[in-house]
Amino acid sequence: MKDGGTGKTILRALAGEVLPTPPIWMMRQAGRYLPEYRATRAQAGDFLSLCYNPELAAEVTLQPIRRYGFDAAILFADILLVPQALGADLWFVTGEGPRLSTITDQAGVEALKSVDDIHETLNPIYETVKILRRELPTETTLIGFAGAPWTVATYMIAGQGTPDQGPAHAMREGAPEAFDALMTRVTAATVEYLAAQIEAGAEVVKIFDSWAGSLKGEAFQKYAVTPCAEITVALKARYPHIPVIGFPREAGEGYVGFHKATGVDCVALDNSVSPEWAAAHVQVDGCVQGNLASSHMVTGGQALVDETRAIVQAFSKGPHIFNLGHGITPDADPDNVALMIETVRSTKS
Ligand code: CP3
Repeated sequence: MKDGGTGKTILRALAGEVLPTPPIWMMRQAGRYLPEYRATRAQAGDFLSLCYNPELAAEVTLQPIRRYGFDAAILFADILLVPQALGADLWFVTGEGPRLSTITDQAGVEALKSVDDIHETLNPIYETVKILRRELPTETTLIGFAGAPWTVATYMIAGQGTPDQGPAHAMREGAPEAFDALMTRVTAATVEYLAAQIEAGAEVVKIFDSWAGSLKGEAFQKYAVTPCAEITVALKARYPHIPVIGFPREAGEGYVGFHKATGVDCVALDNSVSPEWAAAHVQVDGCVQGNLASSHMVTGGQALVDETRAIVQAFSKGPHIFNLGHGITPDADPDNVALMIETVRSTKS
């Protein structure tokens, strides 16, 4: 049994079991909508200091578990720590988001650190994982994560978030050799980073490809499917029993066949696809995760209840992990999270 006989519901769903109630966790469940998160972040000083402080990062990871009893905890860290470990400068501008030094050519890629050196920077993250494995309740699954190479590369090239990932598309079309070298380096670093999280105690890993939706056709195959498959194959060779969740956000039709094409155990869905469509075309190949619109965590009420029930019912014939379609936002009401959990756990499938 893939859950090692522990009976953890998340591991059972990832192994393909159809459960009467789907297990639940939430992207960005440790975050600014929680007053206790804001207090701990203030204690750490800033977001990056929090990521690199194992005691405090473990504390914020545990906060939503204590408050809500989610079935999984996700390690508190960020996808942009990998570029930083490869030598990019990284800082966060309050109210705006991340900023990085930019990479525009082959020389920029060659100036990056070697993959063997990333652990010097990332060791505190592995320490957080070790603390969490000691402190989490036995029924709670610990999820580690990394960004997918395409999404991480979009930030390394543009130096910030971009609405259409224009600079990264320009580089992959205009300087394909340098772009491919960057993807190769990030892919190798991601494998080693996730392997180290698993060694430290992560029980599942998730690959976040937040900007996969801007890749179309062949580019989607080459830069979203292939790197995710490479990472999954490399991890499965070393850790055959560790499940992998892939999240090619806004992939649309690209979700179809994603399990088979990459080898992931679960495909996470954003809320731009209907649960009925996804049940028929994606869940047929294995476990799916999702996909309530995170706006319901702000607006609440009967619409939240109705939509939550509809999602549970649509996915009830196959393996399913309930989640949002994207991260919860800072303006969400913590009471709406409680209402979502209560609704999931009381819905008859
Ligand atoms: O899900 C979790 O609770 C685990 C921790 C986690 C964070 N970021 C913490 C965070 C995870 C899994 C991420 C992933 C991440 N980070 C992604 C992929 C998922 C997605 O949301 O699409 C991306 C693209 C990033 C990069 C990033 N980090 C951006 C663009 C921002 C700024 C936007 C924002 O929400 O403020 C961050 C900051 C960040 N990462 C915060 C948190 C809790 C907010 C920082 C703060 O406390 O000020």
